Amino acid sequence: MGIETSCDETAAAVITTDGHIASNVIASQATLHAPYGGVVPEVASRHHLELVAPVIREALRGADATFGDIEMVAVTQGPGLIGALLVGLATAKAIAWSRHLVLAPVDHLDGHVASLYLQPEPLEPPFLCLLASGGHTMLLDVSGRGDQRLLGTTLDDAAGEAFDKGARLLGLGYPGGREIDRLARDGDPGAFDFPVARVPGLDFSFSGLKTALLYATRELSPPELERRRADLAASYQHAIVRALVGRVREAAHQTGARTIAVVGGVAANSELRTALSDAALAPLSLCTDNAAMIASAGRFAEAVPYPGYLGLDAYASR
Ligand code: KG4
Ligand code: ZN
Repeated sequence: MGIETSCDETAAAVITTDGHIASNVIASQATLHAPYGGVVPEVASRHHLELVAPVIREALRGADATFGDIEMVAVTQGPGLIGALLVGLATAKAIAWSRHLVLAPVDHLDGHVASLYLQPEPLEPPFLCLLASGGHTMLLDVSGRGDQRLLGTTLDDAAGEAFDKGARLLGLGYPGGREIDRLARDGDPGAFDFPVARVPGLDFSFSGLKTALLYATRELSPPELERRRADLAASYQHAIVRALVGRVREAAHQTGARTIAVVGGVAANSELRTALSDAALAPLSLCTDNAAMIASAGRFAEAVPYPGYLGLDAYASR
């Protein structure tokens, strides 16, 4: 069983040891946070507390299983919102203790990579992995399951954060990535010339792009902004995708990687998926936060027996 509560999704899943997904339940709190334009940590913790038991029950029901069928509990230990993580971690400890199970603490980012190890088409390392989510943007050289080296990361905002902040500037809802993706389909990606930051090595930078969008919106009158919103979304998305794809291609060239993989919430982006259609793309249902990927990573993490796991603490950042 996998449990994930690092941000605003309360999720539980049951998978088999060889990676077949028996159930994958996600209760998103996004609409609760939308009025605030982002996740409010205290609100998230409280809702995780309310949702975690029914979501786990639903995951068992969906898998046609009982706690008696579960062999291991995997749970996100970090990074994420501390209060939110603690709800999942305490729940996992309680299940492990009451059922005499081992507990596998999972790093959320390893979880995203492990979304590629699930059936029906589990990916075999080595591969070059772009992990692009709301909190992280990383290029990883993955040499084995649970074995990876960081090649590059963002120097400021994450790609998903750039989508979310851009969406806010365009007056779109939260979370913004999907909204921009949708609106961009009606726009011209060449309408505005947004810059792609040139930073050394294989790192990323998105804060300048966000500022460029801010200036572009400021120069337009409200009716003009309304008329050009789709063009702005398409051009902005195009710049983010160009930055990501450019770095992925450079990294592949440098490392000689033959397989490229893309995971994380931003991997759901339609323009990115088209631009990297030759890559192993995480299935849409496993791009954004879910617990099947946490259960998947749990298979390759070091499981902790009783009473050691009782002392595990959550961590906010790596
Ligand atoms: O992996 P994820 O669910 O949570 C984190 O670990 O952060 O990623 C969420 C991020 C958000 O920033 C969201 O706007 C972005 O993924 N996202 C997208 C799309 N769907 C979700 N970004 C671009 N296009 C999408 N279709
Ligand atoms: Zn995530």
